[in-house]
Amino acid sequence: MKSSSTESPGEPKTVPALGHAFLTPLYDAVMAVTMRERAFRAALLEQAAIGPDQYVLDLGCGTGTLAVMIGARRGGAHVTGLDADPEVISIAERKALAAGVTIRFDRGLSTRLPYPDGSFDRVVSSLLFHHLPAKDKATTAAEARRVLRSGGEFHVVDWGRPANLLMGSLFVLVRLLDGFPNTRENVEGKLPSLFREAGFGEVLQTGSMSTLFGTLVFYRAFGATGSPATPSRENRELGDKGGRPS
Ligand SMILES: C[S@@+](CC[C@H](N)C(=O)[O-])C[C@H]1O[C@@H](n2cnc3c(N)ncnc32)[C@H](O)[C@@H]1O
Repeated sequence: MKSSSTESPGEPKTVPALGHAFLTPLYDAVMAVTMRERAFRAALLEQAAIGPDQYVLDLGCGTGTLAVMIGARRGGAHVTGLDADPEVISIAERKALAAGVTIRFDRGLSTRLPYPDGSFDRVVSSLLFHHLPAKDKATTAAEARRVLRSGGEFHVVDWGRPANLLMGSLFVLVRLLDGFPNTRENVEGKLPSLFREAGFGEVLQTGSMSTLFGTLVFYRAFGATGSPATPSRENRELGDKGGRPS
């Protein structure tokens, strides 16, 4: 089965949340039933150690579950969620409204973030990277690094190298939905080297978790080195966008 993609005129195609646009309405239910969702999201947030008043970007926020969890925590973080797909953004906006939390949701591409350099204290991302072709994975990591302030951190959970044969077999279903080429670097355990190449000085694999669809792996990347790998974006080009006011 080949994954479908969301596409607007003049914009690159991206892979929808469950591989096919017609499956998007089922995304939250599938996650809740099959993915140990509360546990893996709570683990990512514990690792990210988001402080009061910090600016946080949820990259590839999907239906907004993680962004809403961050917004609902005490401490008043300023949360922005970005996703390429307008359908998931609408769901995310409804969920934030229902939860009574204020979150800014932007439609955009992870490879061309509409935020000035150094806008965020934390960039978090769950289950985005396995949707991206290799080149876009590298650009996305570089963009995450660019929009982080000095001392900021990138926290990621995504499919990784399967912990055993069973996990590898279960992960075939995800690969069928989201595409074999896009998921290759994930199964090969290459995300850490990709993050280092994007300019993060320290990249740690902090843990893993078995699920019904394979092995989830957690990463923490920080300590940016050298100059950003993507061109700086001037504040004036970007207008009033989420993130720390400059
Ligand atoms: C599997 S979903 C994960 C959603 C959410 N982070 C979560 O944990 O439930 C992957 C999301 O990445 C988005 N996506 C794929 N390619 C993207 C890109 N290049 N830029 C921004 N979002 C993208 C999809 O629209 C989808 O909502």
